[in-house]
Amino acid sequence: MVMTTSELTGVTVGPEDDAQLLQRQIRDHLLLNFTDLADFRDRDIPVVVRGDGCYVIDSSGRRFIDGISGLFCSNLGHGYGAEIGAAAQRQLSELVFTPSWYLTHPGTARLAARLAGLAAPLGLDRVFLTSGGGESVEAAWKLARQWHAARGEPQRRKAISRNLAYHGTSLGALSFTGLADIRHPFEPLPIPVAFIAETDAYRHPAAQGGDETAFTAALLAEVERVIEWEGPDQVAMLIAEPVQNSGGSFTPPIGYWQGLRELCDRYGILLVADETITAFGRVGEWFASIRYGIEPDLLTFAKGATAGHAPLGGVLIGPKVAEPFVSGEVIYQHGLTFGGHPLTTAVASAALDVYEREGVLDNVRALEPYLRDRLAELRRIPLVGDVRGAGFFWAVELVRDRDTRERFSAEDADWLLRGVLSEAMDELGLLCRLDDRGEPVIQLSPPLVADRALLDRMVAIVGEALERASAALANR
Ligand SMILES: Cc1ncc(COP(=O)(O)O)c(C=O)c1O
Repeated sequence: MVMTTSELTGVTVGPEDDAQLLQRQIRDHLLLNFTDLADFRDRDIPVVVRGDGCYVIDSSGRRFIDGISGLFCSNLGHGYGAEIGAAAQRQLSELVFTPSWYLTHPGTARLAARLAGLAAPLGLDRVFLTSGGGESVEAAWKLARQWHAARGEPQRRKAISRNLAYHGTSLGALSFTGLADIRHPFEPLPIPVAFIAETDAYRHPAAQGGDETAFTAALLAEVERVIEWEGPDQVAMLIAEPVQNSGGSFTPPIGYWQGLRELCDRYGILLVADETITAFGRVGEWFASIRYGIEPDLLTFAKGATAGHAPLGGVLIGPKVAEPFVSGEVIYQHGLTFGGHPLTTAVASAALDVYEREGVLDNVRALEPYLRDRLAELRRIPLVGDVRGAGFFWAVELVRDRDTRERFSAEDADWLLRGVLSEAMDELGLLCRLDDRGEPVIQLSPPLVADRALLDRMVAIVGEALERASAALANR
């Protein structure tokens, strides 16, 4: 074995395929996102080395279904890297970098026009580009603040967001994130945000009668109460995901977003759809706002824009909000070095080519009913309380008692997810998200190019893992 040691630092960096060395490099030199290293005291930290279609392969050569598309990113799976990479290479051989600051370049202009075309049904025809979801949320907030100020309302300094919702972790975006554990270490946060109920039809008291309209009315009544309480002339924007990820794929009940639009209009608040996950086909349309008839003033996107091939996000903006900025009245006091990077815009354009050519949205639309029905079969397992979602964006909620909807204790949920289910998924070859930021859920968001056979395999693995969890629970 030939060891490669950096002459400059003395740190051993190779050979690349030495698994033990990789583990040492990770443990000694890397800080991972949101990772409890106690989980890895007795086992290796997983290392993904290669992708193959809807599968990824780890450093020991084991194959896993990419059942969460990396992190809702690899919408096209792992089969188009060479094609999209060639577009990146062409761009870099022409121009490595230019900012989008008093100037820009053709790739960024072309992508902006293309995105405006895709968002035409929503009337959003302008884009500000960023490197990800949280940056896009903060860019939307700054647009909202400056827009209100330009209209003589600089006092609108508050926002409304939803419980459990994840809108990013940088301090501005974190202000909108309704998750105690990741907020508390950094409080006080810079933006005052009030939180309203998530659209949890499984647990919200007003949804229990099965009357969806009554559920919507109760949710909207709460929104109005919160607006009144915060001061209608103090609130700048309301932000929500069309289908909320955190907590487990909460879809909107009928009339919900139309009601939000109406309330925002009545109180002069800007409505922001955070489509960091849902844009670019996750629920079968370019934007979930199209599917649900949402009319946002601002729409944030990221992940799927490049299908995970490069970090690019953005905010789509309609003429109403753009007006003071494009009329020359106000300068948008915001900018990012890498916003509109030639590499990422070339990659996004190449990814959009693949989405269109391969009929990716059609695939999601065609297979959604099939996936829904297959997942519904999991209800045979008593542990399964609810199965919900849309498109290729689903969650399975686990309960101690299905009849009473009794929750698992935090300790049991932890044992179930991080112990039993995590081990079973690992052994059976599925990467998915086991999340207990709300109730314990298994989250499934496969690449949008997955076929029936792949979906079948994914659901079969979840079923087998849940059967094992039921048996373990019975013997606990
Ligand atoms: C809805 C939503 N908004 C914002 C973000 C933050 O995105 P990023 O991690 O790219 O900053 C995420 C990340 O998952 C998200 O799901």
